[in-house]
Amino acid sequence: VREWIRADEQRARNLHVVVARLDVRADGPTMLDVGGGYGRLTRLVLERFPAARVVLHDFSPPMIEQAAGYLAPFGSRCRLVRADLRDRDWVRAVDGPFDAVVSAIAIHNVRAPATVARIYKDICGLLSDGGQFVNLDRPEVGGEADQEAWLFDAGFDPATVHVERINEAQLLLVARAPDEHSRTA
Ligand SMILES: C[S@@+](CC[C@H](N)C(=O)[O-])C[C@H]1O[C@@H](n2cnc3c(N)ncnc32)[C@H](O)[C@@H]1O
Repeated sequence: VREWIRADEQRARNLHVVVARLDVRADGPTMLDVGGGYGRLTRLVLERFPAARVVLHDFSPPMIEQAAGYLAPFGSRCRLVRADLRDRDWVRAVDGPFDAVVSAIAIHNVRAPATVARIYKDICGLLSDGGQFVNLDRPEVGGEADQEAWLFDAGFDPATVHVERINEAQLLLVARAPDEHSRTA
């Protein structure tokens, strides 16, 4: 993990793309970082939104251990949760709802398209009304069309689903959970 962190500087620059897309209320938004590793994206979010509280989720004990040190300056604004995305109990472990869910280069690791689709459904269910999902990931499990279809199937508001290839190796997905009005319409 320490070597991976050293080699990670270049990749981390792309994390700003995720933060730039976040559009949440300024007064104490709650957020979840899925597969957050040692906390680079979580840290950017905590810095950008000084009233935010973030749950960093990951399944790797060494990553969580590194995150505890890296995010220590943020104290109780950050909670660390270890859970495997392949196990449906991860939803209970992170304990939503959240105003936003972010993720970077993590969800494709589960490999199976059906599992990615199910995780998007889980994430939609973890969001509060109108909550936002911003996900930067590799197009290794599904390309633009698959990703878009999974977001629609997951229950995100179709009018908000946006999938964009930002370079050869990365897709940016942005979507919102239905708001109260569209849930009851
Ligand atoms: C490339 S790292 C990205 C970390 C972080 N999002 C970032 O951008 O700095 C991928 C992360 O996904 C986590 N991960 C992979 N498979 C997972 C799973 N099934 N459940 C939870 N986390 C997983 C790994 O432990 C790792 O921390």
